[in-house]
Amino acid sequence: MKTVLITGAVRNTGLAIARRFASEGWQVAITSRDSESEQARKTVFDLEKEYGIKARGYSMSYNSISDIRNTFQKVKEDFGGLDTFVANSAALGIGVDLLGTEEADFDSIVDVNLKGTFFCCQSAAELMKENGGSIVTIGSVQGTGAVAGRTVYGITKAAISQLVRSMAFELGEYGIRANNIVAGAIHSDRWDSLSPEELAARRSRYPAGRESTEEEISNAVWFLGTDLSKTITGTDLTVDSGISVCLLPYKKKEN
Ligand SMILES: NC(=O)c1ccc[n+]([C@@H]2O[C@H](COP(=O)([O-])OP(=O)(O)OC[C@H]3O[C@@H](n4cnc5c(N)ncnc54)[C@H](OP(=O)(O)O)[C@@H]3O)[C@@H](O)[C@H]2O)c1
Repeated sequence: MKTVLITGAVRNTGLAIARRFASEGWQVAITSRDSESEQARKTVFDLEKEYGIKARGYSMSYNSISDIRNTFQKVKEDFGGLDTFVANSAALGIGVDLLGTEEADFDSIVDVNLKGTFFCCQSAAELMKENGGSIVTIGSVQGTGAVAGRTVYGITKAAISQLVRSMAFELGEYGIRANNIVAGAIHSDRWDSLSPEELAARRSRYPAGRESTEEEISNAVWFLGTDLSKTITGTDLTVDSGISVCLLPYKKKEN
């Protein structure tokens, strides 16, 4: 039986990814900063009950390397190995522009999104070295283009693309693949507060007509995380409703 580990998977996109793999009969390990929370317990319970698979939740701080290494060790003890790792957790770093960035802002975003992702991927590779595997990171169009107030976040997401290329190069000989999803807007609970007008205005900017659902991102992760993509490694897969091909703000032609 195959095993996937997903970080930050008790809600939003991470949870949808966990459900996708569970629905295919995979064993699922998830992390959260607070695995003792009601939501974390419920997530593990629901995955096991709904899909009849083995699921486990682990408490992990992304800015603690010893915590990361302990978590992967526990996954090895509980599941015997790891086939797919999904680096989903991220600090959103909203409202942090270049001139306003304090050292503490910078560190808090880089520690999670870059350092945390790096050492999680390193630990995943250690677990996969014997039997191969697939590492999938969740990047962002904000790592390929600039928007106001997301400077440090964007830098970390750009760096993750390079991390993936380096991993593909270095880990290929162990049968380990690594790929990055360049996500555009993903519909999450943060969209619930938008008015119909705000929602329509946002959607009018996407050539594909709307943001991705969490399930649509999960489909891309499933593709890159499994043997469906056996010869794809070191690449970015853009799932962004076409937003990054627009040189100027996209506006639909009026009829
Ligand atoms: N939502 C979008 O529109 C969008 C667009 C492009 C890319 N992405 C990327 O897609 C992935 C999932 O997005 P999402 O919107 O579903 O994410 P999210 O729920 O906001 O974050 C994912 C998880 O990361 C953990 N996390 C959040 N802030 C953290 C912090 N400061 N320190 C450590 N952990 C933290 C949380 O898990 P715990 O608290 O349980 O540990 C959270 O559930 C992320 O990598 C994000 O950057 C999202």
